[in-house]
Amino acid sequence: MFLPKEGISGPIPQQSAVIDGDNGDRPVPASPDPADHPVNLYRYPALYDALKTPTPADVAVVRTLIERAVGPAPWSILDPASGPGNWLRPFCDGRNTLFGNDFSLPMVEYVRQTLGPCGCGAQHGDMYDLRIDRAFDVALEVSGVTSIMPDVPALARVIRHWTGLLRPGGLLLLLVNFRDEVPPLPCVTWELASVPLASGGAAGVRYELLQDRPDQGTQLIRRTVTTQGAPGMPPFLREEYALRVWTPQEVQAAIEQADGPSLQAVVHPDNADNTDCGMVGERYLVIRP
Ligand SMILES: C[S@@+](CC[C@H](N)C(=O)[O-])C[C@H]1O[C@@H](n2cnc3c(N)ncnc32)[C@H](O)[C@@H]1O
Repeated sequence: MFLPKEGISGPIPQQSAVIDGDNGDRPVPASPDPADHPVNLYRYPALYDALKTPTPADVAVVRTLIERAVGPAPWSILDPASGPGNWLRPFCDGRNTLFGNDFSLPMVEYVRQTLGPCGCGAQHGDMYDLRIDRAFDVALEVSGVTSIMPDVPALARVIRHWTGLLRPGGLLLLLVNFRDEVPPLPCVTWELASVPLASGGAAGVRYELLQDRPDQGTQLIRRTVTTQGAPGMPPFLREEYALRVWTPQEVQAAIEQADGPSLQAVVHPDNADNTDCGMVGERYLVIRP
């Protein structure tokens, strides 16, 4: 991942992701109000949205994978950790049925305001225990929330849970960050500058890989966001957080533990046809119920 452009999760206090063993005990998620957590980018959905909007090329790959798996649109699509909805927006055309779930209240509010008009629903909820009583064609989380899941049982739980919300023949599309070669550290993994903000001004972001912790299966990331002339936005925001980096064996074990869903393909996020790219770095998992 770890040299991908994606710096994912930000410091959601781990207790929102820590799972005790496999006895079905669900942790009590942390406060849904980012104001109760160390200052982080999630407090600013519009800023997160501007900096993390997928490119048209990124969207084209995901659209192709959806079409190949479930046929032509319209589709019903769920993002279980939808953030500002930036992976729902590309499909919000009034034909598709879209639904976002997130644990951050400002994120849910933002999706309701920005994507509500094009028919996207949103709810506040815990991705480990989604309370949704309908089935979807597609469940997708393609910006890497799997990197805040602590261990194989947690990953197995969401694979089982999220495929359980699919209709027969549906698609679960997950981004997973696999171990990859680590360059001399620290190194900048991704950077953007002068991104115009809807509310005025501009912003930039830099992701740095500071430490590799193979014994813990994590890497320490530093995200630095700056804004210029942006009312209501922090001029400088810096966070450091550990991200999970998975091995192929761990992901295989999670799919086995999910007991039912099958891994149909591992796809390179830059090319929907590249399915023999191996489990190295950022990869999409095409999972079927
Ligand atoms: C990396 S962002 C991804 C957002 C979105 N899927 C996207 O494509 O941009 C991760 C999101 O997961 C949310 N999140 C973290 N823990 C969660 C939980 N237990 N339940 C629901 N959402 C959670 C965070 O609030 C954040 O908005």
